[in-house]
Amino acid sequence: TELSLIRNFSIIAHIDHGKSTLADRLIQVTGGMTERELKEQVLDNMDIERERGITIKAQTVRLDYTASDGKTYELNLMDTPGHVDFAYEVSRSLAACEGALLVVDAAQGVEAQTLANVYQSIEHDHEIVPVINKIDLPAAEPEKVKAEIEEVIGLDASDAVMTSAKSGIGIEEVLEAIVQRIPPPQGDRDKPLKAMLVDSWYDPYLGVVILVRVMDGVMKKGQQIKFMQGGTVHLVDRVGCMRPKIEQLPELGPGEIGFITAQIKEVEQAKVGDTITLAKGGATEALPGYKEVQSVVFCGLFPVDAADFEKLRESIGKLRLNDASFTFEMENSAALGFGFRCGFLGLLHLEIIQERLTREYDLDLITTAPSVVYRLTMTDGSTQELHNPADMPDPVKIDTMEEPWIKATIYTPDEHLGSILKLCQDRRGIQLDLTYVGGRAQVVYELPLNEVVFDFYDRLKSISRGYASFDYEQIGLREGDLVMMNILVNNEPVDALSMVVHRSQADPRGRALCERLKDLIPRHMFKIPIQAAIGAKVIARETISAMRKDVTAKCYGGDISRKKKLLEKQKEGKKRMREYGNVSIPQEAFIAALRMG
Ligand code: GTP
Repeated sequence: TELSLIRNFSIIAHIDHGKSTLADRLIQVTGGMTERELKEQVLDNMDIERERGITIKAQTVRLDYTASDGKTYELNLMDTPGHVDFAYEVSRSLAACEGALLVVDAAQGVEAQTLANVYQSIEHDHEIVPVINKIDLPAAEPEKVKAEIEEVIGLDASDAVMTSAKSGIGIEEVLEAIVQRIPPPQGDRDKPLKAMLVDSWYDPYLGVVILVRVMDGVMKKGQQIKFMQGGTVHLVDRVGCMRPKIEQLPELGPGEIGFITAQIKEVEQAKVGDTITLAKGGATEALPGYKEVQSVVFCGLFPVDAADFEKLRESIGKLRLNDASFTFEMENSAALGFGFRCGFLGLLHLEIIQERLTREYDLDLITTAPSVVYRLTMTDGSTQELHNPADMPDPVKIDTMEEPWIKATIYTPDEHLGSILKLCQDRRGIQLDLTYVGGRAQVVYELPLNEVVFDFYDRLKSISRGYASFDYEQIGLREGDLVMMNILVNNEPVDALSMVVHRSQADPRGRALCERLKDLIPRHMFKIPIQAAIGAKVIARETISAMRKDVTAKCYGGDISRKKKLLEKQKEGKKRMREYGNVSIPQEAFIAALRMG
């Protein structure tokens, strides 16, 4: 296709503002989908995504649109993941486009996530077309939202397009705005091939599918291509686009977005942001912006039933086929047996994987306390990364410890501001900025990531009754006064509950954990001390008093069958327990103990 007839764009929106609904409408109007297919929202194609309303994997759809000028345009709609954990993927998708639709809910207005994505889009020099959606709602205030877009983002919203994606109002106008306002891509057909690897995923029929944006040159079946960062060479065996159904094409020219397959076995080989060129006579310089993805949050995943270990291994392997950004290695815990230490891009990513394992693969799992990656500088001058609190070296050998910090932007209705500031303050936050925009406050805080991985989101949501939105970026490591806190049950350390905490937080955390465990662990025949300790120093202590008598004593009177039943019941209960220094800890205790304020 001629460059002047191509438009590449993405849709920026806060969760629930109507991105998928609008995308589906655009596909429907341009003829890519029937009404019935529309019902099964195509862009969000994983169950969990749909249920949680989150788009995880970017997908692209090609639309043919005959505009009012009589010409037929090729529109490539790039769907971007909607969550901060996937910020790098978003940045690569945006780098493949020249413009974006900024969808804002006419009743909700601008929210934190919208802001972060808009700023990224502006950084990529995108032409941004504001779209005010849900104008059918009685609570819609499009004029107010327009003013907010101008005030908060600094974008001219005077010719924002008014839509109701749900009822199909304003869809033609959106298409015309894309054609008239978003610039066509640039590129040179005669230069050596240079394409960006925007995304990759595993398809059971096609193998690894790669989404590309061709910058220069032409991509064709039969070419020997090279991944410049990955260093591998592959044979292209399919070239095509999605409408949203897969359609094979003879080629992808400069400025075009589409997919290729190249007999690649693992998504790991197809790194997002890599530059694809020809194996022979290719480009010499890679595209800018490539980054190696790194896990930010780690936790252990263990099967509740040790017999499920193989099943867990297989399931993790399957998930990993599609998601090279999550890492795992085998781990052996004294308490929990064999499991895996897994690394994630962020908390939400962790939750998604955990939920898929539980739901799609029907696994009962114990998740240990999530931990961030600390950098240790040892007294001998060497440095090391700590991914698992259980691997903490002897503290006397540690000179300094550094922890990752983030810059968080929270956007909230005024009335919840006080409690949110307190929450951030309690989590060692440093306030950078506080501004008011139309009855809402925007607060910017620097926070240590380890204070956020516990239950920050949950707290924020409950404090604000769901109205506050949260967004963050990493800002690097800072030295902290960090200590390792162990929990001892009947004088045995419970490795799954060990955590690295800031010294100032150790006392309240330790006390809270002990109190929780006291309620969660059932009484035994003997007294059970529960302690929180830093090194040899106990900082909190609770005691579970001993049970007076054998449970079966109650049934004296000789009813043997009743006694037997009771014993069986106890045995049944045991299965879901973990033995620790002769103490049985119910599985729920691990999870519940970690969900604390
Ligand atoms: P994510 O995929 O989670 O990012 O959300 P999204 O932005 O794609 O939102 P989605 O399209 O799933 O829409 C969220 C909800 O808003 C759904 O219940 C839609 O039916 C509804 N919705 C979307 N557009 C409109 C609209 O124009 N009017 C009304 N009343 N509801 C709409």
